[in-house]
Amino acid sequence: MRLFLGVSSHHVWTWLLVLLMGSNNAMSTPEEHQTYIIHMDNSHKPASFSTHESWHRSTLASLSPYHSLSDKEMLLYSYNHVMHGFSARLTPSQLSELEKLPAHRATYRESFGKLFTTHTTKFLGLKRNSGIWPTASFGKDVIIGIIDTGVWPESASFSDRGMSPVPERWKGECENGTAFSPSLCNKKLIGARSFSKGLQAAGIKISEDLDYDSARDFYGHGTHTASTAAGNYVLGAGHFGYATGTARGIAPGAHVAMYKVLWATDSETSAATDVLAGMDQAITDGVDIMSLSLGFDQTPYFDDIIAIASLSAIEKGIFVVCAAGNDGPGWNSTYNGAPWIMTVGAGTVDRNFVATMTLGNGLTIEGTSYFPQGIYITNALLYYGKGNTSKEICDFSALDPREVAGKVVLCDNSTSIDVHTQMYEVERAGAKAGIFLIDKPTLDPEDYSIPSLVLQTGSSDSVREYAMTVKNATVKEMRFLLTKLGTKPAPQVAYFSSRGPDPVSPGVLKPDILAPGEDVLAAVAPNRPYMETGIYDLVTDYALYSGTSMAAPHAAGVAALLRAVHRDWSPGAIRSAIMTTAITIDSTYMTFIDQWTGLPATPLDFGAGHINPNKAMDPGLIYDIDLQDYIQFLCGLGYNDRQMSAVLRRREWDCKEGPTNLNYPSFVAIFTKATNSPTVKNFTRVVTNVGGDTAVYQAVLEVPTGMRIRIEPNTLTFTGKDQKQWFDLSVEIDTEAPDVIYGYLRWVDQHNHIVSSPVVAIKT
Ligand SMILES: *[C@@H]1O[C@H](CO)[C@@H](O)[C@H](O)[C@H]1NC(C)=O
Ligand SMILES: *[C@@H]1O[C@H](CO)[C@@H](O)[C@H](O)[C@H]1NC(C)=O
Ligand SMILES: *[C@@H]1O[C@H](CO)[C@@H](O)[C@H](O)[C@H]1NC(C)=O
Ligand SMILES: *[C@@H]1O[C@H](CO)[C@@H](O)[C@H](O)[C@H]1NC(C)=O
Ligand SMILES: *[C@@H]1O[C@H](CO)[C@@H](O)[C@H](O)[C@H]1NC(C)=O
Ligand SMILES: *[C@@H]1O[C@H](CO)[C@@H](O)[C@H](O)[C@H]1NC(C)=O
Repeated sequence: MRLFLGVSSHHVWTWLLVLLMGSNNAMSTPEEHQTYIIHMDNSHKPASFSTHESWHRSTLASLSPYHSLSDKEMLLYSYNHVMHGFSARLTPSQLSELEKLPAHRATYRESFGKLFTTHTTKFLGLKRNSGIWPTASFGKDVIIGIIDTGVWPESASFSDRGMSPVPERWKGECENGTAFSPSLCNKKLIGARSFSKGLQAAGIKISEDLDYDSARDFYGHGTHTASTAAGNYVLGAGHFGYATGTARGIAPGAHVAMYKVLWATDSETSAATDVLAGMDQAITDGVDIMSLSLGFDQTPYFDDIIAIASLSAIEKGIFVVCAAGNDGPGWNSTYNGAPWIMTVGAGTVDRNFVATMTLGNGLTIEGTSYFPQGIYITNALLYYGKGNTSKEICDFSALDPREVAGKVVLCDNSTSIDVHTQMYEVERAGAKAGIFLIDKPTLDPEDYSIPSLVLQTGSSDSVREYAMTVKNATVKEMRFLLTKLGTKPAPQVAYFSSRGPDPVSPGVLKPDILAPGEDVLAAVAPNRPYMETGIYDLVTDYALYSGTSMAAPHAAGVAALLRAVHRDWSPGAIRSAIMTTAITIDSTYMTFIDQWTGLPATPLDFGAGHINPNKAMDPGLIYDIDLQDYIQFLCGLGYNDRQMSAVLRRREWDCKEGPTNLNYPSFVAIFTKATNSPTVKNFTRVVTNVGGDTAVYQAVLEVPTGMRIRIEPNTLTFTGKDQKQWFDLSVEIDTEAPDVIYGYLRWVDQHNHIVSSPVVAIKT
């Protein structure tokens, strides 16, 4: 199996960046330069320095020069927003000298990691003539900053046809570089910068045949996420004939700025210093929304640079959206779960990509396939181990090319052999096509390197039986060209989507929301083959990718639309509107199914539910959160002063008396199984009326057996806009209740507002 990205994994969704904290430092010898991020106390800056950077340079120049690096060579980046400080190459003795300075606050070691990684707008109910699209003017004047692998500026998705002028407040730019001229930017793509100093300081080369030393995208990942969030209308886009239609972003009127921080290098690494620099620049440039489809290993917030940088962005009113990760379906696997971040899991859409097959006995069966259309198979013999039903028929080098040439090979599910191996084997042996019986959807579109059809095991018995019992069984016809809509309950929780409870703060429900993340069609970089099928290398402008990487830009697009409608809303208000209006039932009016188990999922899998943009525009009430609320929350974590100051980037803060549970739009109560441990947990919340001037809300509770929810008061009366009302909620569970049990609190008013929050109890 050849792969199209040089990524050592078959899965596009494994492109989540995991930075293995500190792993590169193990080999350091004394007095060798290492890169560190140094957090400084700004109040120590002498007035004589006009800029922080000049102070940083002078601080570095004052360190003992055991080595010959000048301060110019030492300093990588000076950070202004994401933290007060800089990144620099230092020897251990220089570092310890620096750490003794009164202005020093914290040190982070550079960290490295590797990448793991057309229909969706309609599925989300976005319509040209009604709802949030026209109301938000499609996201006009909103700027979305994407922190990713770069952008392919010539893609039709970044055409500026019909775009409004670049907002005057915009301070960003398009940098010149390899294969990237500033003239490629326009009113759609208004910024493009790249950050690689950290990578290069670590001696990792950006080699010319692996990536472009500029904001140009090599992987295609950044092009895909950026066009998902804000791509312009493109007619006739499709993935080799599948999903053909109009491709457009969620906020087609919004502007895009790309901050390239992820590079294709020999080791596919990316440096934390570069990610920080990209986020810092995005804040300086003036983005409204920041979207990150990458993540670091889960660590406490004071060690998590995305958490720290995001809090700084939130303080400036920038909405930060991050992918929840692709470590599902196991629990406790979410990334980017800081409560000021909108953490997005992936759902499926109601669309299937199918091929049909007719067997010699007339039976016609439909299966999954992404093999390019235009090729059919007719009248071929069906090969099933010549009556040898040993399950290993498609194991590595099990097939005899002389026996399978020109035939369609049936590979059975009832084997431990990975389907990628099976497909590779069928291709190697030179069969005409393959039929694969598998239980779980583990193939990506680009894996279909030969004409093939995947049958879920449920529908495969008749095929197996035919192949086993009929001599000279045949396949009359196989066709690869169909896209089917509305074929299955949707959305489902995509099996790879990371699940709560959040490893860092299990008391805050994560992910927050589900957005489309499976088979998302968007622009890619047409710079090299997307898939290789036999003798053909196929290149495409638009491709189907899957991952929470794809879900995050959907949420970023929705946030951009909301920002366009409600300029005055805080990031907390935008998130609340998205969460309390989310959909919690699928197209068959049932609780979402977990794609992995086939069983009903829980809010630990889907958060508040599936994103629902038209409703989010008019939520009725919001659970707002400001910086002081986050400070109270952090105070409740028991961090020491240094740790607090690292997250908050300031020396003073006020841990006021009062509740440390956040005014979050969802509720998680954690209980222990120990006997006589508490079975009741109380919450306090405050809601703000953003609907009509007068409104009376009733609390409507949906509570399963084994759980009780009390709410006081259960009526909230508002006589004006922006009025706030408090309420108390108390959750009680029976000792014999299941380990995860949940219900809903819904505030319902006379104007059809339904403000819905999941209430989850977990026993650990
Ligand atoms: C732009 O970058 C290219 C490639 O790095 C370089 O050859 C060219 O001279 C640069 N142009 C300007 C105006 O800096
Ligand atoms: C069936 O396959 C197994 C495993 O590949 C092999 O050991 C056995 O000899 C085969 N039997 C026949 C009848 O081909
Ligand atoms: C193979 O499919 C059958 C149903 O056709 C199912 O009962 C069996 O569990 C599957 N085996 C494996 C190993 O997935
Ligand atoms: C199966 O195919 C072989 C070779 O093509 C042929 O000799 C044989 O008669 C066929 N058997 C049946 C039952 O059709
Ligand atoms: C959750 O994950 C974190 C980090 O991956 C780990 O440290 C912790 O032990 C896990 N907790 C549980 C309950 O599995
Ligand atoms: C929780 O709230 C209930 C009233 O709903 C009250 O009786 C109880 O004392 C509260 N418990 C705690 C621990 O505050």
